[in-house]
Amino acid sequence: LDVILPFVSNHFTCLYQETIVMDRPKVFVTRNYHPEAVNLLEQEFDVEVWDTNIPPPREVILDKVTEVQGMMTEAFDSIDREVVETAITLRVVANRAVGTDNFDIVAASNKGILLANTPGVLHETCADMTFALMLGVARRVVYADRQVRAGAWKVLDQSAYLGFDVNGKILGIVGIGQIAQAVIKRAIGFNMEVIYFSRTRRPEIEHEYGIRWVKDVSAILSESDFVSMHVPLTTETRGILGINEFKKMKKSAILVNTSRGPVVDSLALYHALSNGLIAGAGLDVVDPEPISPDHPLLTLPNVVVTPHIASASTTTFSGMAIMAAENIIAALNGEKMPSCINSDLLR
Ligand code: GLV
Repeated sequence: LDVILPFVSNHFTCLYQETIVMDRPKVFVTRNYHPEAVNLLEQEFDVEVWDTNIPPPREVILDKVTEVQGMMTEAFDSIDREVVETAITLRVVANRAVGTDNFDIVAASNKGILLANTPGVLHETCADMTFALMLGVARRVVYADRQVRAGAWKVLDQSAYLGFDVNGKILGIVGIGQIAQAVIKRAIGFNMEVIYFSRTRRPEIEHEYGIRWVKDVSAILSESDFVSMHVPLTTETRGILGINEFKKMKKSAILVNTSRGPVVDSLALYHALSNGLIAGAGLDVVDPEPISPDHPLLTLPNVVVTPHIASASTTTFSGMAIMAAENIIAALNGEKMPSCINSDLLR
């Protein structure tokens, strides 16, 4: 017995250790710029980081979903039906984004894959950017900077830079999520009148901020000096602003889009801007992304385009990554996730 017991106990210890090692779930992170999130994940999982800032090719995603339990994705990493159908081991995908249009939610839910996003950490930062674009276009900040750099500042001549006031104007908002509400708070400080359209009317928000609901997007377009888009990209919102909609806007109106590019028809917007149907546009998102440097929109002086950076303050960038990691940790530990979008739909 003295001989056998140590052997048995040792044997079981080895088995136990092997089991622990074998059971440590695997997580794939699709970019290399989230060290805090990776540190968190590494405390519990074997983590593989796609070691560039370029999205992994589709084949890599298709391969990883057959071997990892968790995946941390960015807004444009497509987790579509084919990816879901290919998945074998995958249990959770956490977007470092609030948008979820890169997910096939129905397919993932049917397969029991948990999906997550990052609401509640980025809305104030995105609202700041919405105002940056409104002010940047209306007060010609970017245009003026380009002129200064080109050596055009020879005398004090404001007449070449006249813009539009933001203060005191009518702001029309499409959508009434957290980002829209953060924009409304700022608009109140600018003494703006705010109207909004959303399929779901929110009387408590109307009451809290003294804003007015209008019955459709057309009413937003015809009444507003500034139109700001805050809708998710869905089959209903894709292309909701096209040439017919731009014709309904004031000629002095400025469009701001920080939601998703395909909500606006880019070429129709170019025609609207170049034919004076509207006065300007501030776009943090475009269709397609990245926009080609020779896209006609970029020839226009009354357009400001930023490369999908509305949430990109240092604090919010890492806050979103940490929340994505926390979603994965909770999901793989069978705990309540900070922000699961499909817990109700799982089969
Ligand atoms: C960014 O686009 C996001 O959805 O958070």
